[in-house]
Amino acid sequence: MKISVIGTGYVGLVTGGCLAQIGHEVLCTDNDASKIGILNDGGLPIYEPGLEKIIDQARRDRRLRFSANPADATQGDVIFICVGTPPLSNGDADLSAIDHVARTIATESTSPKLVVEKSTVPARTGEELKRALSVYGRKSNLKFRVASNPEFLREGTAVDDFLHPDRIVVGAEDEQTEKQMKDIYRPVLERSFTCPFHAPSACPADLQPSWIVTTINSAELIKHASNSFLALKISYANMVSDLAEALGADIKEVMQAVGLDPRIGSRFLNPGLGFGGFCLPKDLQAFVHLAERSGVDFTMLREVERVNKKRINRFIEKTRQALWVIKGKQVGVLGVAFKANTDDVRFSPAVDLIEHLLAEGARVCAYDPEAMERARAVLPQIEYKKSAYDAAEDSEALLIATEWDEFRKLDWDRIRDVMARPLIIDGRNLLSPAEIKAHGFEYYCFGRPNLATASWHENGVLSK
Ligand code: UDX
Repeated sequence: MKISVIGTGYVGLVTGGCLAQIGHEVLCTDNDASKIGILNDGGLPIYEPGLEKIIDQARRDRRLRFSANPADATQGDVIFICVGTPPLSNGDADLSAIDHVARTIATESTSPKLVVEKSTVPARTGEELKRALSVYGRKSNLKFRVASNPEFLREGTAVDDFLHPDRIVVGAEDEQTEKQMKDIYRPVLERSFTCPFHAPSACPADLQPSWIVTTINSAELIKHASNSFLALKISYANMVSDLAEALGADIKEVMQAVGLDPRIGSRFLNPGLGFGGFCLPKDLQAFVHLAERSGVDFTMLREVERVNKKRINRFIEKTRQALWVIKGKQVGVLGVAFKANTDDVRFSPAVDLIEHLLAEGARVCAYDPEAMERARAVLPQIEYKKSAYDAAEDSEALLIATEWDEFRKLDWDRIRDVMARPLIIDGRNLLSPAEIKAHGFEYYCFGRPNLATASWHENGVLSK
């Protein structure tokens, strides 16, 4: 099938690359000519594991092209909208890019299209999109159908998530749309594509995705409800973690057992610096606003946001208690990305943390395996080091802000020897307290009995 993708951000590029990988002819467009320039020169404007491999292959097979002219998207029979829906200052989703794309599709198309919203949007956006397409395209009299097909792609595993989803949700209003969407995803549903991750027929059986067809409104709601629930799980785990600290319990042990109940599930129960990134925080905000505008009192989610915002303060408090005075001290920070396996620093708790440290007067040396280039653009005032060892050198504390696997396997004796003081404050509960202590470190983390024999209460007061 001839498919166009508008927007070459994380979602658009993964969608375009994966649709090409499963056999479609894909054109990706973006009005940012520099991104398209990079893509046409054989590069990638983002880091996402596995993406380079499939895009290189699709380029070679001539199944994937790129254009800086969004009007070229109308060459496809199906057009996936993957443009950004960033938060407005009031927390609502900014849908102006979708409106703009609707105008382009409606005025430039010369044949009927199926327009698929992939970007995360509040419920009822599909209705507005359909109206916009018919208003802007009134002169052509072409028929535009609309579908909602929310993405559930986690940065860092997005390619795998697209090719091996647990569910594919399609909001459709007619059988033709449903059939067309099923034809697009058939190779994924039947697992008949060439998998870049698994050998033929080695894909685990439990990766059989559910095919879920709903109304457009329901599909849109499913996306927001899923992400908000994930955010809720994390904030819940963070509060239980604080309680575990206060009571001398171990959050790892607690959540492991809690998560074994299949009604709860073990994932997204890791406490720490809280959730960040370009999806969870903004989707949560937009969902709360949607509820308010719909007359539904969803203050419970406001609390999820509030708990999340306080995580950095709590971590800074731990840092202050350990260092006594932060001002004037050199602090090493491991990780700037909002989570591991991505170069994305948007709404990263690590960036927030560094800003707080700078405000307190610390000198910050940071290292991240992939995100330093992007971090430089938002935090030009700190020193970026070539390795975790360089960031640790002469630092009086080493703060772990992102759960990169690389940080689990460091040579801790070497780190200890180069630091001005062997002190680690672990914002992701990445390390084993007993092991790191055995290397001679003073170690603080979230929700586990404090090996420095102290525990922190909500108000930051130290109790012995
Ligand atoms: C999320 C959703 O998971 C995905 O389905 C959706 O399509 C896009 O938004 P992503 O933004 O890539 O994906 O990040 P995710 O893996 O969900 O993590 C979000 C944040 O929560 C990260 O900052 C992560 O470090 C944090 N997190 C996650 C925790 O603090 N604790 C956890 O237990 C899990």
